[in-house]
Amino acid sequence: MESIRGKTPLQLTTDEFSRRVAGYKNIWLDLGTGDGRFVRHMSTQNREDFFIGLDACRENLREHSRDCPANALYLIASAQSLPAGLDGLAAQITINFPWGSLLHGLLDGDLALLDGLARVARPNAELTIRLNGGALAEAGWALEAGTWRVYERLQSAGFNVQQPRPLDAAGLRACPTTWARRLAYGRDPRGWLLSARISVNLIENLKIDTQMFV
Ligand SMILES: C[S@@+](CC[C@H](N)C(=O)[O-])C[C@H]1O[C@@H](n2cnc3c(N)ncnc32)[C@H](O)[C@@H]1O
Repeated sequence: MESIRGKTPLQLTTDEFSRRVAGYKNIWLDLGTGDGRFVRHMSTQNREDFFIGLDACRENLREHSRDCPANALYLIASAQSLPAGLDGLAAQITINFPWGSLLHGLLDGDLALLDGLARVARPNAELTIRLNGGALAEAGWALEAGTWRVYERLQSAGFNVQQPRPLDAAGLRACPTTWARRLAYGRDPRGWLLSARISVNLIENLKIDTQMFV
């Protein structure tokens, strides 16, 4: 898998990756991590867990990946084709304020994305998604309708989703990402939060489906 530190790309073998994450209590995976601020913040607050930030775009990651803590790692990959080395590892998966193909994948129930989430999840992992109006408007959806659309797509794919909850300016300020901060202090400080559990059944069904196509 391809990692990045500052401007320098680094190919990590499966063994090297396994050594990096060994011994930590939980592994967090932040998809569409942007500049990686969330991973940076969370990894310095919680040294018992390991935090992985993944994004398709390398440029934004330069600053935070340059001197990231030992319990953090940044990967370059598409959320639609997550590295196989992550399989079965993530206890917490976050997607904060997605746009572009990541948001479209959620709105369309793209199987490459949703199956990938179930594949990298530990049994009973928690998936947390935060959505904002600007990105949804660009994708052709109003904030609340787009949120319910993602809810329905997750639900019908077998994720155990809770009712969406609105995020106000205080809720956005409490989320340590660059976009949350921009939104919190911007003209329309609103978002929605979706939480879901990825059950053992969903993960097992995915394995059966995958084996049928091998
Ligand atoms: C609005 S930014 C949010 C960044 C960060 N999560 C935050 O809250 O500050 C959306 C991010 O999603 C990434 N992204 C979009 N589509 C993606 C995909 N298919 N796979 C991985 N990352 C993607 C973009 O490169 C961008 O960094």
